[in-house]
Amino acid sequence: MRIIEAKDYQDMSKKAANILAAQVILKPESVLGLATGSTPIGTYEYLADWCKRGDVDFSKAATVNLDEYRGLDHDHEQGYYYFMNKHLYSKINIDPSRTHVPNGMEPDPAKESARYEALIRSLGGVDIQLLGIGHDGHIGFNEPNTHFDVDTHCVDLTEMTIEANKRFFASADEVPRQAYTMGIGTIMRARKILMIICGEDKADITAAALCGPVTPEVPASILRFHQDVTVIGDAAALSKLPR
Ligand code: PGA
Repeated sequence: MRIIEAKDYQDMSKKAANILAAQVILKPESVLGLATGSTPIGTYEYLADWCKRGDVDFSKAATVNLDEYRGLDHDHEQGYYYFMNKHLYSKINIDPSRTHVPNGMEPDPAKESARYEALIRSLGGVDIQLLGIGHDGHIGFNEPNTHFDVDTHCVDLTEMTIEANKRFFASADEVPRQAYTMGIGTIMRARKILMIICGEDKADITAAALCGPVTPEVPASILRFHQDVTVIGDAAALSKLPR
């Protein structure tokens, strides 16, 4: 695991964007595993800017997102497809038919989970998976005490996640209670992992995930068993790591 300290959010975002851009330059048909949340927005801004300037070409790339709320469609403003379209897809030259997010409107969890796994396999697997981390250590919507070997599935969101995400909704009551997410098994099959972390409020969970025991109680801790992980954190997020 490589841990890179960035000066601040902008620096973290630029470094992460550089790694994703290099991936696409080296392998134009890369499958990029992408994430939502506030952390990756700056990374997507850099990629959009570099694409506009002609420095990165996404025309052959494909994307698969980690997760989507159950019950929200592509046009729902709080949905993750909408988020990705707003922050990235609409700003780069990617073929929209090669951008994938779990279908939150599929009522049958087993069917959607199997479809999404088959889709990822048919694309040849994820070349690099971008991840944030939740305050409880979740990656995607894999909440504490999820089995490490599960694939895409439907989860019940924890109160902590509902509370953290209510800022995007009119109230906590409007936050969906379930989501489709790649499982830890899916995430661990990505060839490379790129985790970005920002802010003092993530310092404790970052230390637990990167230095504490590998345990389902801290889902991100499993990443220490992956052979190619890069973590980019700002100084505040990395402040509780042993020096
Ligand atoms: P955030 O979310 O980027 O909005 O902090 C991260 C996550 O929950 O994975």
